[in-house]
Formats: sequence, C-alpha cells, structure tokens
Amino acid sequence: MQIDILTIFPDMFESVFKYGVISKALEKKLFTLKIHNLRDFSPLKHSRVDDEPYGGGPGMVMRPEPIFNSVREIIKRSSFEKKDINVILLTPEGEKLNQSIMSSISSFKKLIIICGRYEGVDERIKKCLVDKLISIGDYVISGGEMAAMVLVDGLVRLIPGVLGNIESLDKESFSGNLLDYPQYTRPFDFEGMKVPDILLSGNHKKITKWRKERAKAKTERLRPDLLENKENQ
Ligand code: ADE
Repeated sequence: MQIDILTIFPDMFESVFKYGVISKALEKKLFTLKIHNLRDFSPLKHSRVDDEPYGGGPGMVMRPEPIFNSVREIIKRSSFEKKDINVILLTPEGEKLNQSIMSSISSFKKLIIICGRYEGVDERIKKCLVDKLISIGDYVISGGEMAAMVLVDGLVRLIPGVLGNIESLDKESFSGNLLDYPQYTRPFDFEGMKVPDILLSGNHKKITKWRKERAKAKTERLRPDLLENKENQ
C-alpha cells in the first residue's frame, strides 16, 4: 500500500509516525508514506492555499487549485490505475469511521488523503475530486491532520505482516464486533485485587470460553450498540 498525505502542516506528522507499529512497518517497507505540503502545489502568489468564502461569513476556505493540482500530480506519477487509488478527504461531514470502513479502505493499493483546514474546503473538491469523505467522529477538531493520523494508524495495522502475531488482529476489539476480553498481567495480587483463577489454570479451552463470555458481557455493558449495529460486523 502507498499512502500520500496532503497537508499545510507536514511537520505535524514527523514524530507521530516515528514510533511503534507504524515505524516498524515503514522500516520493513510494508507500505510507503509520503507527506506533501499543499503549498508546494499552489500556483498562487506566496503559495497561498486559502481565501475568503463567496457570499461572506467567518473564516477562510481552502482553494481548489493546490488540492486539485497535488492530487492530479500524484495520480499522474503513480503506476496504479485509477480504480486502485482512493482519494479521501478528512472532514466532520464524512462517513463516520469504524473498523469495517477501515477494512474496506485497506483494499486499495494507493490512498491519497487530504487534510482539510480553516472553515473547510471548496465544495468542488468534494464533488469532483474526492472518492470518499471520512469523519473520525461527531465532533470538530482543528483540522484533518490528527484525523489522518488516526486513519493511517488503523489502516497500517491491517496490512499483512504488520502485526507480529497474526492472531492479534482477530482477537482485537471490534473484529467480530466485540470489545477485547479483559487482560491481566503480573502481579497476581495487586493491593488485594487478584487475577481470575481461571487464567492460571493452564486449561486453554476453558480460558478461551471464559474470554469469549467476558468479551460479550463487556460489550453488552459498555457498547451495546456494537451488538445491534450490523455495520460493525
Ligand atoms: N476535521 C475536523 N473535524 C474532523 C473530524 N471529526 N473528522 C475528520 N476530519 C475532521
């Protein structure tokens, strides 16, 4: 998978992708990541990327030229056909991200991720350039950058070979629409709070059964919507 991110704040991404699973996957060349500065694609004076909204109103809107130019240039330079490329805009107006959407996005060979800023982006970008609008939740943050980090982290975990233990994907929260089972580690007795005996029993069949039951009970208690919502299955 190739991921290209378009942003006016490329430095924001530097430290985030230097750690953990993502940095290891980059080292192993399991995917490629390029961060592009939208200003480099601006044909305007002073590399301008925004302007006042037509019709008036507060704030600034991202102009179409830098975003159209950059997406077209990246597609032109790519060896993939358009059907293998997904152009995504992060915006609170988008489809709310969940594990099943994450998994459908992960089937593309190339992703071009646009981070919106200011009061939003010119509507023509949404209508004529972007394949998918994605929101990371029903709240507004200052721009698409942090949303893009969330999306990329979730996607990279799905790339085969990224998670050391193949099983850990299946057992993770949300795969099979259940939250994770409760996890314990040493010490056995922490300030009088003990680890359930069954986990020390050595009986793997019983442990698996217990974990399934606990995962179901936890989901019913904390996130009953996951059990009702077929989209998460
Ligand atoms: N930009 C601002 N808020 C956002 C959200 N909730 N999801 C994606 N991009 C955003």
